[in-house]
Amino acid sequence: MKLKKIKTEKTNLTPQPWTEVIARFYDWFDAYDGDFLMWQQLLRNTESPLLELGCGTGRILIQLAREGYHITGLEMSKAMITQAEHKIAQCNMSVRKRIRILQGDMSCFDYGKFGGVISACNSFVQLPDRSKQLDTLCCIRKALSPGGCAHITIPRWTAPIGKQINLQSPSPFFLFEDSKNPETGWQTRMWCQYGPSSTVEVSRYRFKFEEFRSDGLNVTSYSPENGWHVFCDISMEDMIRLAKSAGLKTVDVFGDEDFRKPDEAEETLVFRFQKD
Ligand SMILES: C[S@@+](CC[C@H](N)C(=O)[O-])C[C@H]1O[C@@H](n2cnc3c(N)ncnc32)[C@H](O)[C@@H]1O
Repeated sequence: MKLKKIKTEKTNLTPQPWTEVIARFYDWFDAYDGDFLMWQQLLRNTESPLLELGCGTGRILIQLAREGYHITGLEMSKAMITQAEHKIAQCNMSVRKRIRILQGDMSCFDYGKFGGVISACNSFVQLPDRSKQLDTLCCIRKALSPGGCAHITIPRWTAPIGKQINLQSPSPFFLFEDSKNPETGWQTRMWCQYGPSSTVEVSRYRFKFEEFRSDGLNVTSYSPENGWHVFCDISMEDMIRLAKSAGLKTVDVFGDEDFRKPDEAEETLVFRFQKD
C-alpha cells in the first residue's frame, strides 16, 4: 500500500526513539485489545469520517474500518506506518478503501473536517511538552465538524513515576517484560531504563529488546543515540483547562473500564470534547 500523496504540514518534531524500536514488537508486546469495546461504545453516535491521531500499527483504526467507519490515521513514525500498511494490505478491499494513513505530526495538521477525532492508548502524552499538547488540541478543534466529538485517553501511571524517579543520572536497565514472539517463536525481553527528568511532568525512558533466536543468534535492538523517549504527563484538571484554552469544552471524563466518573485508582482517563 502506498502512502496517499497529500500535503503535510511542516513540523519540528521527530518520532520518539522508542517508537522506532518497538514498532515491530508493538502489537503483541506492548499493546492490548481490551479497549476496543470502549472505542466502539464511545463512537456509537459518531459519524464518519474519523481521524485517529498517533494511530501506530493501526490496532484500533483497522477494527474501526471493519465496523464500517471511514478513517484517516495520522502517524509520525515510519516504522509504525510500515507495520500498519502490512496489516491493512491483508484486509479485504472494502475495508482497505475506508482507510487512509498519513505521515505527519498531530500538533500541526489540517486535513479538513471529521465527524470524530480520537487519540487512543495514550498517544497524547507522547507530545513532549504542554505547548505541543495545546497545539494538538487547537488542531483538533479546527478538524471537528459541527456536532463532532473528540476522545482522548491519558494515562495516570506516568505522573507518579515522573515524581519518583527525579534522577541525576540514568537508572540501570531493569527487565520490564519477557514474552515469546507469537510469529517467530523467539523469546524476547524488553529492558527499561529511567532517565533524568527536568520537571515532575516529564518522565524519560529508554528501552531495549533482546531476542533469543532459534538459530542461536541473539540480537539486541536499542536506540540510545536517538535520546530518551519522553512522556509529558497531564492531570485531569490541567487537561480540562488546556482544552478550554484551545476552544474545546469537556463534555465528559470517564474511567476507561466502566464509563463511570473516574476515581483515584483509575489507570486511564478518557476525555470527550466538543467545540466550545
Ligand atoms: C502508544 S502508541 C499508540 C498507538 C495506537 N493509537 C494504539 O492505540 O495502539 C503512540 C503512537 O503515537 C505516535 N505519535 C507520538 N507523537 C506523535 C505526533 N506528534 N504525531 C503523530 N503521531 C505521534 C507514536 O509514533 C506512536 O505510534
